[in-house]
Amino acid sequence: MLNTIHCKKACMPFGLLVLALLLPSCSSSEYKQYADNQAKQVASIIRKNGCLECHSATAKVPFYGKLPLIGPVVQADMKEGTRYLDLTDMVNALDNGKPVSEVDLAKVENTALSGSMPPIKYSGMHWGTNLNSDEKAVIIAWAKDVRKKNFTTPTVSDEFANEPVQPLMAFLPTDSAKVALGFELYHDTRLSGDNTIACATCHGLNTGGVDRKQYSEGINGQFGGVNAPTVYNAALNIVQFWDGRAADLKEQAAGPPLNPVEMGSLSFDEISAKLAEDKDLSERFLKVYPEGFNQSTITDAIAEFEKTLLTPSRFDKYLMGDKNALTAEELEGYRLFKDNKCATCHTGVNMGGQSYEYMGIKKSYFDYRGTGLTDGDNGRFAVTKNEQDRHKFKTPTLRNVMITPPYMHDGSITSVEDAIRIMHQFQIGKNISDDETAKIVLFLNTLTGEYEGKLLQ
Ligand code: HEC
Ligand code: HEC
Ligand code: HEC
Repeated sequence: MLNTIHCKKACMPFGLLVLALLLPSCSSSEYKQYADNQAKQVASIIRKNGCLECHSATAKVPFYGKLPLIGPVVQADMKEGTRYLDLTDMVNALDNGKPVSEVDLAKVENTALSGSMPPIKYSGMHWGTNLNSDEKAVIIAWAKDVRKKNFTTPTVSDEFANEPVQPLMAFLPTDSAKVALGFELYHDTRLSGDNTIACATCHGLNTGGVDRKQYSEGINGQFGGVNAPTVYNAALNIVQFWDGRAADLKEQAAGPPLNPVEMGSLSFDEISAKLAEDKDLSERFLKVYPEGFNQSTITDAIAEFEKTLLTPSRFDKYLMGDKNALTAEELEGYRLFKDNKCATCHTGVNMGGQSYEYMGIKKSYFDYRGTGLTDGDNGRFAVTKNEQDRHKFKTPTLRNVMITPPYMHDGSITSVEDAIRIMHQFQIGKNISDDETAKIVLFLNTLTGEYEGKLLQ
């Protein structure tokens, strides 16, 4: 519950509607009304300023979008703007008092802070679309309140409560008996058709939770078509896989064992029968899962184990209030990271994993790469079959990024410096100096975390 001071302070920048709520104390129902009004104000600012014209897949082309010369430019911006950010869901959520996504919040907050929207070339003819200072203040205050309520980690120091990146929680609730079984199964090659491959083969816990190959090598020397993301902190992603086709870790864990190019088992019945022959394991398993081995129990145990794969780092110490945890240069790297909008997509506790983002907003990444398109390049489109989702990928976490090369869904980028340059050029539309790149590398280095008390390598 909010105290009076916070309530008054938070209410300050708002108009008459909210003034009515400045009562001596702030009960939870008053807070709800305050938050609802705040949300409605933000929705109205977004509508009034025409943000949806360029940030909604359902927007209609305005009259000037049909004029010669300027028309094609307008239409290109509508397409580009929507690819970057579709505000339809957010505005609906605001209207209905529903939670907004952490990434949308960070993006819209960033616009209000940097005053970058709409693109400059519109200011002449796109009257009224520039946020005025009152509107910016409303958005900034809203973002702060919503972040505090929904997205902060309790251990964050007061000073950093409004940072777009938040410290890792110390642990996620788990059942230790299931975790122990999950750990074993994670390392068990019997999950594969020829007993040669375990989850750990491609997601080694001593190699950053990945295999450090462009494409993973599965059963019979076969290769997959996308780079393996890390299992460390994967529990914090809103969905699993680059295209988000698994809703959670349990659903994810059912994929590889039966994938013909990964572990190549025919069925969970086959796997369960093999495991059941192991008397010792069966006995222990039955104590925790009386129904015995099956797809649901095996994947449940593995997922439970994966929830323990959190890797607190030096950067978390900093966010929790230890000012000496980072050097001046590392902090400079963090500042550049935020100033260059990196923290809008790589946001939250896991610095990613919260949204699908188009790869190549500012120019075509695939033209630059120069090799033909693959199935893996489709991204989210593979699941939704919606053209808007082609080349959108679940944003990867940046935790432990220094020890998880190569990079991108196609694993085609071998150095972290190149990954940083590419992000600036293709997502932000900016060239970055070697000196700034080096500082961002220093910052990313502070994200390498500890597992079971040991610094990962
Ligand atoms: C005329 C079209 C247009 C309008 C109107 C527009 N945008 Fe954008 N917006 C774009 C385009 C194009 C991009 C792609 C990236 C860029 O150019 O920075 C973008 C990017 C963004 C971004 C991410 C990049 C950044 O600079 O932060 C945010 C957030 C954003 N818009 C929010 C808004 C909001 C809020 C409004 C209303 C005040 C708005 N936009 C109005 C076209 C528009
Ligand atoms: C042959 C190598 C290989 C094996 C074996 C393997 N994986 Fe993966 N894993 C991958 C690849 C490649 C991806 C990315 C696939 C995609 O996104 O389409 C992936 C994705 C994942 C993800 C999603 C992470 C994220 O951020 O989206 C998790 C979690 C994961 N694997 C856990 C496991 C578990 C648990 C097992 C054992 C049951 C396993 N993997 C077996 C290669 C492998
Ligand atoms: C619009 C959202 C967005 C923004 C802004 C953004 N990124 Fe990314 N980032 C992504 C996506 C999506 C990928 C994966 C792209 C792919 O696999 O093709 C990615 C990948 C990366 C990777 C590779 C990670 C890996 O494990 O493969 C690094 C490093 C990275 N980004 C750093 C940055 C930096 C530094 C910035 C600031 C300049 C930044 N990103 C800005 C969305 C974004």
